[in-house]
Parts: sequence; structure tokens; C-alpha cells
Amino acid sequence: MKTILTGLRPTGNLHLGHYFGACQNYLKMQDDYEFYLEIADVQALTDHFNDPMKVRQNVYEITMDLLSIGLDPKKVNFFIQSKIPEIAELTVFYSNLVTVARLERNPTVKSEIAQKKELFGHHGESITYGFLGYPVSQAADITAFSGELVPVGDDQLPLLEQCREIVRKFNSIYGNTLKEPQQVLSNITRVKGLDGNEKMGKSLGNAIFLVDSEEEIQKKIMNAKTDPQKIKKEDPANPDICMVYYYHQLVNKENVSTVCSECKKGHRGCVACKRELIQAMNDFLHPIKEKRKYYEQHPEIVKEILETGTNTAKKKAEETIKKVKSAMKIDY
Ligand code: TRP
Ligand code: SF4
Repeated sequence: MKTILTGLRPTGNLHLGHYFGACQNYLKMQDDYEFYLEIADVQALTDHFNDPMKVRQNVYEITMDLLSIGLDPKKVNFFIQSKIPEIAELTVFYSNLVTVARLERNPTVKSEIAQKKELFGHHGESITYGFLGYPVSQAADITAFSGELVPVGDDQLPLLEQCREIVRKFNSIYGNTLKEPQQVLSNITRVKGLDGNEKMGKSLGNAIFLVDSEEEIQKKIMNAKTDPQKIKKEDPANPDICMVYYYHQLVNKENVSTVCSECKKGHRGCVACKRELIQAMNDFLHPIKEKRKYYEQHPEIVKEILETGTNTAKKKAEETIKKVKSAMKIDY
């Protein structure tokens, strides 16, 4: 059985971008692999170190989100990154195998730094050692569990490439010890935001969260970006530049061809079209929210799931660190 490892930063609830971009793949893969799902609290602290309560709360929030979309704790090992100190050890060892220049060139790191500058102005320019080094820590996440397949969004590909480089360097110096991981991309690698931005994101303020109430869904969809040329129902419009149409394609697949042709012919008004999407979105989210209620009422079950998964993950990481230390001649 091949091993899957993936991680999520506990900094907020899951949104449709996570769901269609990565989580759908987890659901498909959970039956056929040894599956480790990391709640990456240490990584979340690299840019939320001054807000520890937020990270702590979101460890449970995101775990509940993942359980409510249908991931089965009997098949998936949910674990908390900070509970596996072996990951931190590996990070230290790997940090010798990567140059600062290479980290600064990493496209994911680069675009995150650019985003910080945009959000925080000159404060965004003071990048910490920990933040710059998080690709090294992510390589430790993956290799600690001998992750062979890593389901991620396409924004994470440069981090995987960096991980493979570290693995190759390690193996070439210390002997063949670690496995090179491969990415698994979803059919939809990126979900656009309500405002038409190429990426849906919490910090971009353009996301639909799985936990959004029906009122929030209504408000968000009513304000979503549509074809600006269309004023009246009779105006023919271009669905390809309309976010309402875009989400119909995700959650209202049965009716999407009708939506498209009626929109193009001017046989559909935007308000009615939005109402139909609101209904479809609520129908899509309803079973997820129902499942979530159960976990909200049983926090002890969520804790137990994390504990069990963490214990299994810890054993696996202990095996890896043994091999690594022996290869590095530090197995005193
Ligand atoms: N960096 C990933 C993100 O921001 C989260 C993550 C942490 C991860 N560790 C990982 C993803 C290991 C894949 C493998 O979404
Ligand atoms: Fe978008 Fe629907 Fe209006 Fe067409 S009719 S522009 S698909 S909201």
C-alpha cells in the first residue's frame, strides 16, 4: 500500500477552494492508501506566531471540517504536527541541505512574501527565518512518514519540487534513505473567488466556507461578480465571465447547460439565476453541516480521533528518524 501525506494549516475553516481543489482527492484516495493527514499547527505559527489561540482553535475547527466532508478516521490518520517532534528534528537536519538563495527563489514563498507586502505594507518586508524556511519543514512533514503521494493544490508544486531536491541531496550525501514524493493534482486545481479573482482565499475575502450559514451564502452569492454588460433579463450575457455561472458548474452540474444557454440567449435574469445557485449551494452544503453538528456536540470524539491518529503517525516518524540518524552517523 502506498503512503499519502498531506497537510493543512489550521488558520481558518475550509472553503470551496479547499474542497474542490484538494479535499475531493482525499475522499477518492482514502480507501486505497495508508493516509496521513497533518494539521500543520507549527507551519501555521510561521506567520501566526503572535496569535496562538487562533491556531489552537482552528486545529479543532479544521479537523471537524475534514470529518464532516466524509473523511473516515478509520482510514485516515489525522495528526497534529507539533505532537511529532521528529518533524522538527528532520527540519534542522535538512536545513543544511538547502541554500537561502534557493528558498528565496521558491515561487510559493515569493508569492506569499508579495502578498504579505500588499497586505501589510513595509511590515511585510521583515520576513522571519521560520517563514523563509517553511519549505524545509514541509519537506520534513512529507518525508517523516515516507509520503509517496502528496495531494495538493497547484500553488504547492514548488514546495514539492523543493522537497524532492532535499531528498536527492540527502540521499547523495548520506546514502539512499528517503523517498521522493510525487504530487497528486485534482481535476480542479484552483477555485476562483466570488470577486472573480483566480484564487479563492480567506485572506482575500472572497471565499464561501463550508460552515457558512444560509444567510451568509445568500449575501455572498447575491454580491458575486456577474457579466457587467447584463442589466436586464433580456440582455444576452457571457456566462464565462460570470462567477455565478462558475459556481453553478461546481454545485449545480445537472442544470448547468440550461443556465448557460438561457444566459447567452437573454432568457434568464441574474436575480433568478443567483437564487437557483443559492438553493443548489445550500443543498450541497447541507449534508456536510449535518455531519459537522455531530462533531460539534461531541468534542471528545474529535480529540480522540486526533490522539489515535497522532499515535500512529508518531510511530511512523520514529522509524524514519532512526534511519536518518543512522545514515547521518548521529545514532549514538
Ligand atoms: N503548505 C500547505 C498549505 O499551505 C500545508 C502543508 C503543511 C502541507 N504540510 C504539508 C501540504 C505537507 C502538503 C504536504 O496548504
Ligand atoms: Fe451570470 Fe446567471 Fe446573470 Fe448569466 S444570468 S450573467 S450566468 S448570473
